[in-house]
Amino acid sequence: MRAQIQTADPLLLVNAAHSIPDASCPELIAVDPRWPEVLLAQRAAALLNACIRSVGGEEHIVPVSGWRSRKEQQAIWDQTLAREGAVFTRQYVACPGHSEHETGLAIDLGLAAPEIDFIRPLFPYDGVCGAFRRRAADFGFILRYPAGKEEITGIAHEPWHFRYVGVPHAQLMVRLGLTLEEYLLLLRRDHTRRPLTTQAGARIFQIQYCRGTDRPNGEDTQALPCQISADNCGGFVVTTWR
Ligand code: DAL
Ligand code: ZN
Repeated sequence: MRAQIQTADPLLLVNAAHSIPDASCPELIAVDPRWPEVLLAQRAAALLNACIRSVGGEEHIVPVSGWRSRKEQQAIWDQTLAREGAVFTRQYVACPGHSEHETGLAIDLGLAAPEIDFIRPLFPYDGVCGAFRRRAADFGFILRYPAGKEEITGIAHEPWHFRYVGVPHAQLMVRLGLTLEEYLLLLRRDHTRRPLTTQAGARIFQIQYCRGTDRPNGEDTQALPCQISADNCGGFVVTTWR
């Protein structure tokens, strides 16, 4: 039987209120052979590389931290708490079990430099990093913790932390100025009966929310290609395209 929630589901919400579900770990690969310890779910890794290449960032953009085990997140939490104190730690490190790094869909990026801060890498808004930001949604990534949304995400502004959610969803979130929390709320509130229709490139996407704990089997999608993602909030997002 297919797991009801899969940790590589691109729209999985993981935050202080929503812990990482008990589910099998996705297939992980190294983002770049030069940093073999930085792993991501396969599709996220491929699209991250494609985005970096599209802005000529291969020599300038460094993957600093990708997938983390619970144990690693705990070690980061403990060390940061000891070094920086509780206020800083709560702002910049998610509690173990509540970090989206544990999904394999989140990546911290840094501008290449002799020394890179592991907790708060420098990833500027101009130059090649700025170019990456402007293209990120076209490759399915969002800036997960933007300035001004701290009360909603529960995390301080993190200019370096990007999250893979898939292309139509990333583009919509950017266009509507929504965090993942707000976007999922919108789908749950307004799009259980009436799908949200959007265009990305040459494709038309229909996005619909299904409440429930059983993963939909996609049989209502009229044989269109379809992606189903749990949201970790009691439902599933069904995305079809043509
Ligand atoms: N820095 C992010 C919030 C994490 O620790 O998952
Ligand atoms: Zn991060």
